[in-house]
Amino acid sequence: MNILVTGGAGYIGSHTAVELLEDGYEIVLLDNFSNSKPEVVNRIKSITGKDFKSYKVDLLDKQRLEKVFEENPIDAVIHFAGFKAVGESVANPIKYYKNNVVGTLILCETMNRYNVKKMVFSSSATVYGMNNTSPLTEDMPLSTNNPYGSTKMMIEMILNDLSYSDRDWRLSILRYFNPIGAHESGLIGEDPNGEPNNLMPYITQVAVGIRDKLTIFGNDYPTHDGTGVRDYIHVVDLAKGHAKALKKILEKQGTDVFNLGTGIGYSVMELIRYFEEANEINIPVTLSGRRPGDVAVCYADPDKAARILDWRAEKDIYDMCRDSWRWQSKNPEGYK
Ligand code: WQD
Repeated sequence: MNILVTGGAGYIGSHTAVELLEDGYEIVLLDNFSNSKPEVVNRIKSITGKDFKSYKVDLLDKQRLEKVFEENPIDAVIHFAGFKAVGESVANPIKYYKNNVVGTLILCETMNRYNVKKMVFSSSATVYGMNNTSPLTEDMPLSTNNPYGSTKMMIEMILNDLSYSDRDWRLSILRYFNPIGAHESGLIGEDPNGEPNNLMPYITQVAVGIRDKLTIFGNDYPTHDGTGVRDYIHVVDLAKGHAKALKKILEKQGTDVFNLGTGIGYSVMELIRYFEEANEINIPVTLSGRRPGDVAVCYADPDKAARILDWRAEKDIYDMCRDSWRWQSKNPEGYK
């Protein structure tokens, strides 16, 4: 089986590429390297000892994309390629709608042309918006308050319409919660461009000395300690969830949507404490006001993925904290 992994040099894409290769799949990795480094390809190869083809292609370049399908028999696609910074999307919505939505449309058109109609799509818990109460279930109404989240919600709608128009399409839409951690080798991990938006990469950059302290965005939320609660999931568990979703669409017809989370919420202060305990490192903090757009609490009901995909997260918060630190301490400047 040959799987095209778009955005395969990214944080979640690279971990999923490792899982697929170790599960015995062939892969073709596609990335425009706008938010990732070619070095990741080498790291995937050294972790798995497997070879595979990789292409520097932007999904908006239809001709180059078609060439990938001309040159490789593709059985299914796992589609990660997309921009994901909430703040940037607010400042530059056109960049996000064009890259994420138009890019996905061109991918689907090309897949259709080559009769490749199986896709696992990387969505996000952000589509649950501000009005749902955790634990979040897949049948809840969707809403978004930023263009990044809107691109994910629009693509979910596009994929549902596509599968309704042509039953040959088999689609698995995966809503991620908060991916953290890294492969146990410490060879691949999260490598944000510039100042990290997300909590764990900021913590690890403070730990390794790139940043002098962590700013906690608000401690007046209606939570047990006043700081935001999130469902942190190990990126390797997330990658295994993709492998299970892929297996499902290769085996049987249908389109479905799944939460990939642990079902456990940890506050900002708790995550900091677990990180400090797991790695015996002190993280200096300062307090500021709430970050616009943040919800107080967000965690998954993960039962549907357990029931239908036979998948549950297995790694705990200590694994996530230790593995995040191992990656950062072995790669203080990321992939450079
Ligand atoms: C987690 C908690 C912050 C940074 C985002 C996207 C979501 C997905 C994951 C793409 C919150 C607090 C953070 C910091 C802090 N991305 N925080 N200081 O916002 O839950 O989700 O990333 O799919 O779509 O929305 O993750 O890590 O940014 O924040 O106090 O320097 O940490 O307020 O409570 P978030 P996050």
